[in-house]
Amino acid sequence: MQYKVIIPAAGSGSRMGAGFNKLFIKIMNSPIIELTLKVFGEDERCTEIILPIKESENQFFETLNLPNFIKQKITFVKGGSERQESVYNGLDSIKDSESLVLVHDGARPFVTNSVINRILSEMEEHEAVICAVPMKDTIKKVVNQEVVETIDRSTLWGVQTPQAFTYKCLLEAHQKATQAGYLGTDDASLVEWNGSKVFVVNGDYNNIKVTTKEDLFFAETIYEQYRG
Ligand code: CTP
Ligand code: MG
Repeated sequence: MQYKVIIPAAGSGSRMGAGFNKLFIKIMNSPIIELTLKVFGEDERCTEIILPIKESENQFFETLNLPNFIKQKITFVKGGSERQESVYNGLDSIKDSESLVLVHDGARPFVTNSVINRILSEMEEHEAVICAVPMKDTIKKVVNQEVVETIDRSTLWGVQTPQAFTYKCLLEAHQKATQAGYLGTDDASLVEWNGSKVFVVNGDYNNIKVTTKEDLFFAETIYEQYRG
């Protein structure tokens, strides 16, 4: 099953606090975005990588150390001021309305082929499939440092990317959300909001989103483990 992947990469990494786009930070010797691009670049089912970036960072992305066969798959598009807008710009560049579209955070370099396989396999049956892991911590709702509610953990999942959609399903959700001014924190939330069903498969606890400084320690450990 062939697919295109949109990898939003136009963030500023404010929670990382590095003072520049966190995707440029190196884990061992490779920038985070390079590791993410390699996973999809090396997957033969992936026919195109659409990369929303800030125009001012163009130079960096153009000079990544990637083999030519991966570089040839990349289409650069303009990023937006919100992640949602960056993904929408990516979608806008797709001309084939029969495409299967994956959306994956540039900041998740440890996505595995197994996770991609599980998602693609369920896309035979569904129009929207995401990956997630069961929550390990007890989750409480807290207001003004006081517990308001303890939520039943057995129904709680931590959602990751990739998230897969038929082009039509994702485009309609993005168009309507933009018109209505609805902002979601992931793409599936727009699809849910638009009334479509979203199916969940198991993700991977190692498929972390590198978000804060602490995550860099975990990232190096996970990377070591992957290299064997
Ligand atoms: N992203 C994007 N366009 C934006 C904001 C985010 O393409 N306007 C991308 C990021 O580059 C990242 C992914 O969306 O690969 C997930 O976002 P997040 O982890 O929140 O990254 P940042 O927005 O860069 O970080 P922060 O929220 O801490 O500023
Ligand atoms: Mg962000």
